[in-house]
Amino acid sequence: RMQTFSTKAQLKGALSKHHRQNDPVILVPTMGALHSGHRSLLEQARKLAGEDGVVVASIFVNPIQFNNTSDLQTYPRTPEKDLELCEAAGVDYVFSPAPEEMYAGERSISVEEDFLSTTLCGASRPGHFSGVCTVLAKLFNLVQPTDAIFGKKDYQQLAIIRRMVRDLDIPVRIHGAEIVRHENGLAYSSRNARLSPEQKEQAVVIRKAMLQARDEFRSGTGVREVKDHAAAMIEAVPGTRIDYLEIVDAETMQPLEGNREPALMAAAVYFGDVRLIDNIEL
Ligand code: PAJ
Repeated sequence: RMQTFSTKAQLKGALSKHHRQNDPVILVPTMGALHSGHRSLLEQARKLAGEDGVVVASIFVNPIQFNNTSDLQTYPRTPEKDLELCEAAGVDYVFSPAPEEMYAGERSISVEEDFLSTTLCGASRPGHFSGVCTVLAKLFNLVQPTDAIFGKKDYQQLAIIRRMVRDLDIPVRIHGAEIVRHENGLAYSSRNARLSPEQKEQAVVIRKAMLQARDEFRSGTGVREVKDHAAAMIEAVPGTRIDYLEIVDAETMQPLEGNREPALMAAAVYFGDVRLIDNIEL
């Protein structure tokens, strides 16, 4: 039966026997408002954990990764539903601390990444990835997982986490999970809950533009043109605003000039005041 903890002490108490026994401990960090994308990560965690292992899901809307107060305040929260989804996915332990439990008031240390995070979401959300790296460093220390699973939906985040674990010698295996989409191609996102039904239809344009971009890129169309075509398709939908739309090297996250591989198209697009991100390996 699943157990839920709100303090670090409770979490450590439950995990100590698993660490003593060298059981697989699989961590899936989330900010809640869980959907099919999260469920897929949790189910993969359950498989990886096997009979002896345990799955730990963290649910924590991390204030220090929000560079915008209204985004933090309007971030969807569905605590009861989240627990049901975790239980159904075979989670053993849910860790959902209050911000005061997670952070000391006089906090003065953070984790900075300063290469991969200079582009895309890192460029448009100052401080965001520092907040992500800092909370994950804490979660890795608290849970001491053997493995942790992250979605490719946040492709740049995944690249940065792999780099952090490498550069700081954090003993955890990082797994990347495929993006889960609605039937029409829209990627599941907690922020979709803030879209009107009409905006939800319109948001499919991101996927359409990216599929077209992949076709064009593969048939040799230049990076500049591929980007322009995708941007034009998105901008043709009323009420959209492109925050960024880039083609980058899928490993370094730096802008790509020629049609080299591995390439990634990544975009952040506003529908009204809701900012959605998506990406595609070209
Ligand atoms: P959150 O946005 O809740 O996402 C938690 C995890 O679910 C991330 O690894 C994300 O990539 C993955 N995910 C989200 N939507 C997905 C989809 N449609 N398909 C597959 N995976 C998906 O990312 C965060 O939280 C935070 O930054 C966090 C890592 C928890 C640090 O606070």
